[in-house]
Amino acid sequence: MAEGSDRGPLRAPRGTHDVLWPQSSRWEAVVAGFAELARRWDFGLVLNPMFEESRLFRRGIGDESEVVGKEMYEFEDRGGRMLALRPEGTASVVRSFVEHRPPVPWKAWYVTPAFRYERAAAGRYRQHHQLGVEALGTDDPDLDVEVIALAAAFYAWLGLTRVELIVNSMGCPDCRPAYVEALRAHLDAHAGELCDEHRDRYVQNPLRVLDCKKPECRAATAEAPRLLDSLDEACAAHLARVRAGLDAVGVAHRIETRLVRGFDYYSRTTFEFTGLALEGAQNAVGGGGRYNGLVEQIGGPPTPGIGFGIGIERVLLACDAEGVFPAAPRPPDAFVVDLTGGEAARDLVAELRRAGLGAARAYDGRSLKSQMKQAGRSGAAVALIVGADELAAGTVTLRDLRHGTDQETVPRAAVLDRLRPQTEPPEKDPTP
Ligand code: HAM
Repeated sequence: MAEGSDRGPLRAPRGTHDVLWPQSSRWEAVVAGFAELARRWDFGLVLNPMFEESRLFRRGIGDESEVVGKEMYEFEDRGGRMLALRPEGTASVVRSFVEHRPPVPWKAWYVTPAFRYERAAAGRYRQHHQLGVEALGTDDPDLDVEVIALAAAFYAWLGLTRVELIVNSMGCPDCRPAYVEALRAHLDAHAGELCDEHRDRYVQNPLRVLDCKKPECRAATAEAPRLLDSLDEACAAHLARVRAGLDAVGVAHRIETRLVRGFDYYSRTTFEFTGLALEGAQNAVGGGGRYNGLVEQIGGPPTPGIGFGIGIERVLLACDAEGVFPAAPRPPDAFVVDLTGGEAARDLVAELRRAGLGAARAYDGRSLKSQMKQAGRSGAAVALIVGADELAAGTVTLRDLRHGTDQETVPRAAVLDRLRPQTEPPEKDPTP
């Protein structure tokens, strides 16, 4: 039977989730922090459509990656076009580069939902969200170092300490085919030992077997040839320079010859950040690599590129697991309690907001008790109470909600001046 039903209460579709206040404050902070790092690293924001022509993602035939081959949300629109919800950011960013031909090097960052029809589980969603960068126009290994260092700086800013960086090289179209043949020959000899999934499928994409976590495949590939040993001179030199650069800028990493990424566009440097505090299957908090042939495949001039995607949900799960980067509520500076019909509150919140203060109020002419309860819940530093007496006298009663029940009478015209010094600086600097 198909998933879901047309009965019962409406819920977010399987594999999707809502983010409500105050959890969403972490999303605001995460995006703002990443934007600031992107600025320092000289990346500009790029916005692309959520859907593209399917053929953008389905470039090759046969040797298709998991994500594109099996997990895409595809549909025909009313005009008969085959479209797909973007399963990732890279292909769209590269398509926009090819379409608009900005000068290179072109360094773009993005924040985007990504859609994959995956088996939903903790940390694996059908709509997840990525922060990412793509840098086009140079094969300089120093750029690989910068890109990787940017991601590392982001995790460090969040306060994550248990994130491991693994690095590999996928070689290039000159050196990889010979390696793939050698690996295929090794797997031919061990085919019977592979896991159910890979026993037949290894023929199409032998590299994927290296990434398989099943003990059978692990054992069968323990002695397999390593791509690292088959790199040609230029690819080996590139990797060496990247590694030296990471050491120089203080980004700890480990070579992982089994690292195979889920898209088939990679060449040379590939990398992944593992959240060591997370459950095994969903512990990649980010990953990326070079794709020196992709621009050409999408119809542009030969142009190397490199980038990464960081899963926001995964990163926040890692923060939960490490007990860092909690949701920081941003309470209003003042809560206006009006017992005179609402006009006083209407005017006072407007004035406060014009002055740059955060102001909240109650509605619907609630009782004093109910309004004070809301004021307390809001986390505001002070309540500004306007009753009949205050209205007549042209004053406001200011009650300190954080430190006991002290209150004082303030002339209406002096409220702003009285509040300004009380406003506390934000708890956490929003910039990294
Ligand atoms: P990816 O490894 O498929 O790479 O995804 C990047 C990150 O998105 C993952 O490391 C993970 O944190 C998160 N992620 C992926 N799938 C899910 C999911 N189903 N649920 C939750 N989080 C998920 C890419 O997408 C490439 N475009 C990265 C790249 C950019 N390579 C070069 N440039």
